[in-house]
Amino acid sequence: MKNTAADSPARPRIVWITTPDNYDPEVQKQLKRGGSERLDMLTAAGFDVRVVHSCDVVPVWNGRPRLLHGDEDLLARFAGFLVTSWTWDPAIERHIEAITRTVRASDCVLLTDGTLDPEVFGLDKLAMYHHAAALGAPVLPTVSVPFGRYARRALDAVRTQLPPGPYVLKPRSMAMGYGVLKADTVQHLGASIDLLTPGGLGCLVQPYVPDSGDVRVYVHEGKVIAALLREPAGRAYLANASQGGNVSGYEAPAEIADLSERLARSLHSDYLCVDWLISGESFSFNEWMTVSAAYEDLPPSARKTVAEALVQYISHRMDERPGPR
Ligand SMILES: Nc1ncnc2c1ncn2[C@@H]1O[C@H](COP(=O)(O)OP(=O)(O)OP(=O)(O)O)[C@@H](O)[C@H]1O
Ligand SMILES: [Mg+2]
Repeated sequence: MKNTAADSPARPRIVWITTPDNYDPEVQKQLKRGGSERLDMLTAAGFDVRVVHSCDVVPVWNGRPRLLHGDEDLLARFAGFLVTSWTWDPAIERHIEAITRTVRASDCVLLTDGTLDPEVFGLDKLAMYHHAAALGAPVLPTVSVPFGRYARRALDAVRTQLPPGPYVLKPRSMAMGYGVLKADTVQHLGASIDLLTPGGLGCLVQPYVPDSGDVRVYVHEGKVIAALLREPAGRAYLANASQGGNVSGYEAPAEIADLSERLARSLHSDYLCVDWLISGESFSFNEWMTVSAAYEDLPPSARKTVAEALVQYISHRMDERPGPR
């Protein structure tokens, strides 16, 4: 059964599915107290935004896809879904996949895909590297760590494929600098792999790029509209704003702007945030994100431009109402 236009409320509805279990309960309280600029921005732009926790949602197929939230089916009325999909917990990851697959099978819109294949390209850094490298973007040599008792085989590959340390060991699918570890030697890397492997998160090893910044380029409808530079503070090695990194506005060099636009085109994405690790004159592709990427740290005028682009993109996606894919 299709939702019809008559079902749509006057204000377009957005359901934002988040995972509070990612956070320490005390951090969760702080987040609640601080409110959300994004929520306020979307509400001010005319959307009816509802926040739902992934733990309260049960995906069901029964005649049609359903997302049960208590007695309510969140898919019964047309809505755009923002699903915050990163998590450090493999069990939660499987649950979120079930949610995103169910939304995609329905005639509601999954706003957080925006790429050809959200299950892989929305999250998996290794898949992103292959795609970006094929388009001509510079990509760091990267080793993917096998599972369980085979995990240490990654160390032989590190010795032959990567320059001598330090290294960065990071989860294939995460955000906000969670689980990104700097290892100075192969021995240190081996111990880190020993500790990480039982958790079941897929991990990658790369050379550590010293004195690097992380540039985020915002591409809307094929054109770069803003860029942000994040740099590790003091002697830290993580540039993420959520990990204490310093942020400032940035003018993306032509080559980075051009590659970011090519990436967005290749993914048929009208809103893509492309992250690059830069060090002096050199740069390499780091990852991309869609609507869930932070824009709140941009300087005010760029923040306004990106917020407007975000609203326009969400509105277009919801107007298209593509139906199940
Ligand atoms: N190979 C590397 N060399 C040096 N620093 C790195 C490297 N990889 C990651 N970093 C640092 O760690 C930070 C977090 O890494 P990355 O962006 O890959 O992970 P993330 O958790 O997905 O973050 P985000 O919230 O931006 O999605 C980067 O912003 C950068 O400062
Ligand atoms: Mg990042």
